[in-house]
Amino acid sequence: YPLKNLNTFGIDVVAKQFASFSSVTELQELLKLPEIDKNNLLVLGGGSNVLFTQNFAGTVLLNRIEGINILSEDEDVALVEAGGGVTWHDLVLFAIDKELGGIENLSLIPGTVGAAPLQNIGAYGVELKDVFYILEAVEISTGKISTFNAEQCNFGYRESIFKKTLKGQYIVTHVVLQLSKKPVFNTSYGAISNTLEAMQVKNITLKALSDAVIAIRQSKLPDPALIGNAGSFFKNPEISPEQFADLKEQYPAIPSYPAAHGNIKVPAGWLIEHCGWKGKKINNYGVHKDQALVLVNYGGAEGNQIRALAYEIIESVRQKFGITLQPEVNII
Ligand code: EPU
Repeated sequence: YPLKNLNTFGIDVVAKQFASFSSVTELQELLKLPEIDKNNLLVLGGGSNVLFTQNFAGTVLLNRIEGINILSEDEDVALVEAGGGVTWHDLVLFAIDKELGGIENLSLIPGTVGAAPLQNIGAYGVELKDVFYILEAVEISTGKISTFNAEQCNFGYRESIFKKTLKGQYIVTHVVLQLSKKPVFNTSYGAISNTLEAMQVKNITLKALSDAVIAIRQSKLPDPALIGNAGSFFKNPEISPEQFADLKEQYPAIPSYPAAHGNIKVPAGWLIEHCGWKGKKINNYGVHKDQALVLVNYGGAEGNQIRALAYEIIESVRQKFGITLQPEVNII
């Protein structure tokens, strides 16, 4: 089964087996089929965080569970449930239309609702965990339905329990978010306040903030419909204050943000750019010209070529800065 149109990198590989499901019951029925290789299952949502380096020898399952519903509301908050197959940005648009705040800064993130908790998607000062209420997931080995609250998901920076101890064990079928009827606008990110100013926005609304985020993203991130990519290829590394102080002495312009446990987060894009990679093109793939954190496939590149480029970048950043970058994309 061809996967080229099911991964935003546009890598031309095939899966041995493919199936999709539109409801929890359909998924449970699929998992009962003897021919499904439960030990080699890959669930795809938008396919926007994977790099295929070879054909997939197991079963690819596509989550197509649709539907967005307001489960309950009071004067302050609403609980909004969405199917795992819903396009993430459609949920953002639903929330803006209903004047519910909390995910407007996460506008235009590619991918689906079901994939969002796995890596705790985040952008412009907001992470999914900030609005997350509960999720429903099906256990692959038993077909049983479980729920996980925020604590049980063990969210971290682009991390959750589903990428760690429960990796490959559950399929997220529904996600419930707690959105606010009295939104507090998060404009802390410099680019946002600048863009709102440039757009001459006087009264901030959810829509205005979302439009600003969309404008920023479109100005530096390549549209996967036009150029193959999976967003940030690497995580922003977190280093100790001591290591940061040394770097700052050598490179006074190095940007930084506070991170957990007193550590300092430095933008991988800056490190990669300062190793000379930004805009570099090797045949039909390379490093995006406006954001060095994004690797791109201009058409026809192979996954293992992009992986080799990623490892070359990791090595050069390690040599120059003594920092080892970790991929953020799932390399398969
Ligand atoms: N920078 C450079 N050169 C570059 C890219 C960035 O010097 O080529 C510098 C910028 O000038 C800025 C800093 O790095 O000072 C941060 O850049 P940016 O605002 O573009 O954000 P980022 O840290 O590179 C992260 C997320 C993005 C998210 C943005 C906005 C990760 C791995 N990436 O990127 O998420 O949209 O912040 O919040 O945390 C994604 O996960 O796929 C993704 C796109």
